[in-house]
Amino acid sequence: MKVLLLGSGGREHALAWKIAQSAKVEKLFIAPGNAGTQNVGENVDIKADDFEALKNFVVENGVDMVIVGPEDPLVRGVYDDFKNDERTKNVPVIGPSKAGAVLEGSKDFAKQFMKRHNIPTAKYETFDGTTVEEGLKFLETLKAPYVLKADGLCAGKGVLILPTLEEAKKEFKEMLGGMFGNASARVVIEEFLSGIECSVFALTDGKNYKILPEAKDYKRIGEHDTGLNTGGMGSVSPVPFATKEWMQKVEDRIIRPTVEGLAEENIEYKGFIFFGLINVEGEPMVIEYNCRMGDPETETVMLRLKSDIVDLFEGVAEGNLDKRDIEFDERAAVCVMLVSGGYPQAYAKGYEITGLDKVEDSVVFHAGTKMQNGKVVTNGGRVIAVSSYGKDKSEALQNSFTQAQKIEFTDKYFRRDIGQDL
Ligand code: AMP
Ligand code: GLY
Repeated sequence: MKVLLLGSGGREHALAWKIAQSAKVEKLFIAPGNAGTQNVGENVDIKADDFEALKNFVVENGVDMVIVGPEDPLVRGVYDDFKNDERTKNVPVIGPSKAGAVLEGSKDFAKQFMKRHNIPTAKYETFDGTTVEEGLKFLETLKAPYVLKADGLCAGKGVLILPTLEEAKKEFKEMLGGMFGNASARVVIEEFLSGIECSVFALTDGKNYKILPEAKDYKRIGEHDTGLNTGGMGSVSPVPFATKEWMQKVEDRIIRPTVEGLAEENIEYKGFIFFGLINVEGEPMVIEYNCRMGDPETETVMLRLKSDIVDLFEGVAEGNLDKRDIEFDERAAVCVMLVSGGYPQAYAKGYEITGLDKVEDSVVFHAGTKMQNGKVVTNGGRVIAVSSYGKDKSEALQNSFTQAQKIEFTDKYFRRDIGQDL
């Protein structure tokens, strides 16, 4: 079959790498892809949110399945757009409908959904420009630190955690005043939860689901989780505290009620659900939902998925995911992200990347790269993800670390402590 994958980051290279291994796939296209995805498929110069161009491409090239990497096209309704077009209505799109993607697209919707289905999450209330005074009063009932979330999509920047009531009140007013534009026209204020985070992923056909290997990502730029937040500096899978018993709680209290809740509410959902969880004294609670896989979690999760991912996608499309097998690799996987110096603040692009051909035993996923005059050059803050197996996470980290040193570009930076806190 012919498969089209949408997106251009490290997550998409990891998905493309896995999809390309399937015996069912005769041709893989990636739109728009990056300098790495072209090694496992054919890049197509169409943006992931240009639905008309994507549909034309699908029709002209006889594409049999579309897989959506990032949230943006999902939140904008790529699933519905394909379904409502006579020409593409029979081409399965792996990803939720626009109504399903609201689980990520609106924090307030996600919180209400969890409340309706008794899914454990932090206590909260939502406010807008007409309820500023009520919001300030609600803040006074909470203990420090204070968690403020812009309702809409903010490219991962819409959550503020403030140490004092005074700062929380000030930022709350600024958020409603347009700090994140329309995305913060409504603000969720919630109770702060203390614990270690873990990302759990399920693939669902709307009725059945399969749970993928869990992972933990590392968001801060500095070692030992210091400094500014980034799009992710690395990931590890498995996560030691996600024991069989803990994962059973996650399935019973969170995953099953979510899938059943979506079905009960007639929300079409055929794709990945990302459960951003926190372990509060042994009990899993939901911090957030995303309607896609995580980045850089996918760069370790794909290493640990032994089964044919396209077989699972077919199960999603046909509604018989329960008939498909899912198997994990017992080894640990660690991903170390090589980033541009200066990131997540100002950084330069266009530096040549060398040494990629010297990497052995690790899998190199491109995140922000492009081809320029026949050379691979840096094209983003997060540049290359180096993912490795190991008998345990220390060995996997050591392997990624060794290989990461062979890849060179000006002002390269990476963390050496991924997974070491667990
Ligand atoms: P989100 O965009 O909802 O994932 O939030 C970004 C980050 O803020 C999360 O990964 C957590 O580290 C943190 N966070 C969000 N909500 C809470 C909460 N209620 N308690 C503690 N930390 C939180
Ligand atoms: N790694 C977190 C995310 O993909 O949102």
